[in-house]
Amino acid sequence: MSIIEQLAQLRREAEEEIRAAGSDKLNDLRLKIFSRKNGSLSAILRGLGGLSAEERPKVGSMANEVKVHLEGLISERMQQLKAAVMEARLQSETIDVTMPGHWQKPGRIHILNQALEHIKDTFKGLGYAVVQGPEVETDYYNFEALNIPANHPSREMWDSFFLREGLLMRSHTSPMQVHIMEKHEPPVRVIVPGKCYRRDAVDSTHFWEFHQVEGLLVDKNVTFSDLKGTLDLFARRMAGPQRKTRFNPSYFPFTEPSAEVMVDCFVCDGKGCRVCKNSGWIEIMGAGMVHPKVLKGVGYDPEVYTGFAFGMGVERIAMLSCGIADIRLLFEGDERFSRQF
Ligand code: PHE
Repeated sequence: MSIIEQLAQLRREAEEEIRAAGSDKLNDLRLKIFSRKNGSLSAILRGLGGLSAEERPKVGSMANEVKVHLEGLISERMQQLKAAVMEARLQSETIDVTMPGHWQKPGRIHILNQALEHIKDTFKGLGYAVVQGPEVETDYYNFEALNIPANHPSREMWDSFFLREGLLMRSHTSPMQVHIMEKHEPPVRVIVPGKCYRRDAVDSTHFWEFHQVEGLLVDKNVTFSDLKGTLDLFARRMAGPQRKTRFNPSYFPFTEPSAEVMVDCFVCDGKGCRVCKNSGWIEIMGAGMVHPKVLKGVGYDPEVYTGFAFGMGVERIAMLSCGIADIRLLFEGDERFSRQF
């Protein structure tokens, strides 16, 4: 076969092979054709020496033309393969930005915290500081210092969870009255929000864990009418400007006199309904003038200083104001419930 025929054959066969090659074969193919040492083009050109002087340049330029042509085909094929890879990737990784996204339900402030914030805001506006205290208490702070000695029958009002010797989960926030007065000279004006624990049987209005907000104000010349004015204003801030309060006589060992604070029913406007059990009134907290024994116990002179204290259940207030019938709903964390407020 003449060199020209060999070149023509190489051209035909290589064209075929390049067209069929995948990206993994293409480089081998390039070497197979163009390698100086054992490429098929070099092999053909080795025969150039045997040609006559006038044939040589003709064949030489044809060989060059085949070389350029095949190199062009290879890089063209290379581009083609790269484009195909890119195209496949684009196809497989396409994001349809018009598809609906994943809906994230926004969170809500729990109804208890909403009530708590409202209570805190009201008293902050009256100049009260907000403080917190320990949930594990000693018998002394939970009872003794509040004028509830050991074996006093009123201890039954607070059925407590006792821990090891002398310690218990606080059954109300009143122990903080003592802590605060021990640490600060009068005047004192604080509220104490916090968790309390009682061994009550669980039902629709009792849970072993609940929240109270304690209030304490001690100064010179503090009277029962200051207490009435303060809680009257609180009731109106919480449940509307038309609300009235009523103070029924009650008993707590650490206040004297003591009262049960009632607000006229904000569900039926005092006419009588299921919520107020047809009485027209709802009890919202316990309160009273701080007992002189409690003042004396923390080193305050009861002849110089007087004060009032009050304690309310946050669950109760939240339930009353939102018409929630079962306290357990507040602790279950069921989002179908929480979402409603
Ligand atoms: N600590 C009382 C209770 O848990 C409430 C209270 C607080 C009463 C302050 C009077 C004064 O029942």
